[in-house]
Amino acid sequence: MSLPLHELVRRFGELTEEDYCVLSIMERNLGKFREVPYQVILQSIKFSETKLERSLEKLHRLRLIWSPKGKKIAYVLNYLGLDALALRTLSSKGIISGLGMPIGMGKEADVYDAISREGRRLAVKFFRIGRPSFKKYERVRESLVRVHNYLEASIKAAQMEFKALLLLVGKVPVPAPVYRTRHVVVTELFEGIELASLSELENAEKVLLKIIDAIKSAYEAGVVHRDLSAYNVLIKPDGSIMLIDWPQWVKRSHPQASLYLERDVKNILSFFARKWDVRNIPPEYEKIIEEITGKSINIYYE
Ligand SMILES: Nc1ncnc2c1ncn2[C@@H]1O[C@H](COP(=O)(O)OP(=O)(O)OP(=O)(O)O)[C@@H](O)[C@H]1O
Ligand SMILES: [Mg+2]
Repeated sequence: MSLPLHELVRRFGELTEEDYCVLSIMERNLGKFREVPYQVILQSIKFSETKLERSLEKLHRLRLIWSPKGKKIAYVLNYLGLDALALRTLSSKGIISGLGMPIGMGKEADVYDAISREGRRLAVKFFRIGRPSFKKYERVRESLVRVHNYLEASIKAAQMEFKALLLLVGKVPVPAPVYRTRHVVVTELFEGIELASLSELENAEKVLLKIIDAIKSAYEAGVVHRDLSAYNVLIKPDGSIMLIDWPQWVKRSHPQASLYLERDVKNILSFFARKWDVRNIPPEYEKIIEEITGKSINIYYE
């Protein structure tokens, strides 16, 4: 079931050119003001103040913007406002022709099924940093420290994820990157489920070895995932896998890279030991782990 994009945009409440113009002004000022003063918006428009007031009223009613100190004083852009801008871009550039159902609604991102103009199935990930859980944000904060608000943090996270995917595609099983705008990353859809949610798995060791190969290939491409777990590995019934969710990645040259790599490897090995009772891997794979992490394989089985 696919919701045509124009329908979705209509849901945002028959937005006009003026409305999009106001949203764009809000977006341009994201890094400058915590709350964009009314006067700043007024100075930036090329239409009348009456139209501006009408537009602000509508955007506020639809919750695309918010006026924490009262109307005509200052406004902030909400995620919904940034979504509207992103969706308009995705539509006008012809990246997606319809948005489908949510396939992953989580702490940090909402992922939707979508369809390209050519009928290809896509995954559209809307970052939502700062929503209810701060835990993961705390972990990635280091790289986001200079941003002023969560919307900017989400834009930064989307940029980071897209950059990782561009570096890795073709070398590591990751969803092929298609496009990024603002806080939204579009990739190919992988029709698998999270490894963590499987209740049966044939040939668990083989799957583990594929993941180790993928970690190694990413490392060779200069990238450490840094949040690798069974939740961020998707798997299909045929056993093919995909490593997802890369916004917090670091370069191999990062001072903490080996620590993060070790943690990723440990997460995966202990998951397979605990859940699937895989406690031994072939010596050549032990060697891979020792080579990339610089640590004896024994520490992973303690
Ligand atoms: N390319 C994709 N193909 C298919 N499903 C995907 C894809 N990307 C993400 N998903 C689904 O959306 C979920 C969330 O995606 P992701 O792990 O990238 O975001 P997240 O930041 O971890 O969000 P959450 O807070 O929900 O865990 C995934 O667990 C998966 O079920
Ligand atoms: Mg995830």
